[in-house]
Amino acid sequence: MFYLTTAIDYTNSAPHIGHAYEKVLADVIARYRRLRGDEVFFLTGVDQHGQKVQQAAEKEGISPAKFVERTTYGFSKLWDKLGVQYDGWAQTTDPRHKACVAAILTELKEQGQLYKKTHSGFYSIRQEQFLQERDRDESGNFGPVWGEVVEIEEENWYFKLSQHTDWLRNFLEHHSEIIIPAFRKSELLNALEKNTGLDLCISRPKERLQWGIEFPFDENYVTYVWFDALINYISFAGYKAAPDSGLPDFEKIWSDRPVHIIGKDILIPAHGIYWLCMLHAMGFTDAQMPRLLVHGFWNGLGGAKMSKSTGNVVDPDELAEKFSVEAVRYYLMRDIVTGRDSDYDMNRLVMLFNTELANELGNLCNRALNMSQRFTGGVLKHGGPLTGDDTALQASLAESTSSYQTAMDDFDISKGLEALNRHIVHCNQYAERTKPWELNKDPENKERLATVLYHLAESVAHASVLLSPVLPDAAAKLAAQLNLPALTHLKLTDLHWGLLPDGHVIEKPQPVFPRILVEPAP
Ligand code: ME8
Ligand code: MG
Repeated sequence: MFYLTTAIDYTNSAPHIGHAYEKVLADVIARYRRLRGDEVFFLTGVDQHGQKVQQAAEKEGISPAKFVERTTYGFSKLWDKLGVQYDGWAQTTDPRHKACVAAILTELKEQGQLYKKTHSGFYSIRQEQFLQERDRDESGNFGPVWGEVVEIEEENWYFKLSQHTDWLRNFLEHHSEIIIPAFRKSELLNALEKNTGLDLCISRPKERLQWGIEFPFDENYVTYVWFDALINYISFAGYKAAPDSGLPDFEKIWSDRPVHIIGKDILIPAHGIYWLCMLHAMGFTDAQMPRLLVHGFWNGLGGAKMSKSTGNVVDPDELAEKFSVEAVRYYLMRDIVTGRDSDYDMNRLVMLFNTELANELGNLCNRALNMSQRFTGGVLKHGGPLTGDDTALQASLAESTSSYQTAMDDFDISKGLEALNRHIVHCNQYAERTKPWELNKDPENKERLATVLYHLAESVAHASVLLSPVLPDAAAKLAAQLNLPALTHLKLTDLHWGLLPDGHVIEKPQPVFPRILVEPAP
């Protein structure tokens, strides 16, 4: 089983382009793995507890429950619109999740992994955590990332994180496959060096925070939002679930190393330290530890951080309305290297769509399908003997498909699309060299014309399958125009030359990628 998750999005605000990127990335990987023949379970969802939600609800004068109901709908509606197709939906107010968190807390306490102690120190309201001396900046202050910082003294529950950090360091050093991309592993190991000896405060007194999961053995406390949220990856996979819960079978879901997709800001300490140590404390073996696929950030133009205050936050819903879902999905996958940052640039969105889809692929579809319709009545014949041009085209397709697969296996979607585009460009050059529109002028060339059109149409068939993880709707439209609905059920291993049978009749072609027209700047 290929078990894939994303971070669960905070429901204290509306979804932005970073959220959309991560969910589309996961959707593309899930669809690709299915194409590869894997059984996939894709979980995404929302993080509904915590102080930020409580504060946002208070500000509006409504209950946190009402508040998250509304914001949660905003996320799920957007994923439907963007074609993000998940198998499981995690929301942390779900009673089944709460029961799982409670069961884990009880078990960890019985195993002596939890203790209560009084701590006085500086607390960041924004980050919902106690700060350490090492969190001060060079000038000795707690920097702006921490927001409002208050000095408090309180008694809380702690998880013995420090008992697991030696294991974690050793585990990471011996399993380079766990953190993707690899350069994030050194950041994590560096952070671990500084973290020695510290345990994790996992409770919040109810006087301060009510909107959380109550401690099963201490009703004056709720669970720290990160401890609660991280558990979603197992609770919604059926961990410790009742048989009639409707949740999946955990043994089946967690049978291979799962892949958690997260952004770079939540690797340290949440996923890279807390989560792996929590799993270790719960008795998960080294072989059961998940992989962390750490993606970069979308920034504004010139690398500016997107923030509400600068007003450069991009609303994915608006973007889809303006440019189409296809254009948004394509851009988000095409203009970033998984693991690195990218600057959101509307001009590049338009340029990439118009160049690679409207022009190159659109042109190929037009040539392959329109010319077949006009010159051979929509009938595709395998044709006659092959020339060097034909064998070169077939070799180009084989090369592209294999590079695509390597890149996609490495979660490098942009590189996968580049590989596909290489073949599409090759096809258009082939058409310019072989000139089917000239061949059509002389009935003597009938067989040669059939061969050329077949090579173009067969390429469209393969391209539609390879494109399907990123643009499932466009791929389905191409399959329909090719009159081969079966294309949408193919696996990568079915992609050999000859998908279109000899004598196959195609449907009436229609443009799938209309050019985006932008009004010239005033
Ligand atoms: O961190 N570009 O939620 P969140 C790319 N609830 N990705 C971005 C981004 C950007 N500009 N901004 C945020 C949380 N993200 C927690 C997660 S998981 C158990 C709990 C990514 O809504 C971010 O890195 O702040 C994270 O992976 C996801 O969006 C949700 O962020
Ligand atoms: Mg965040």
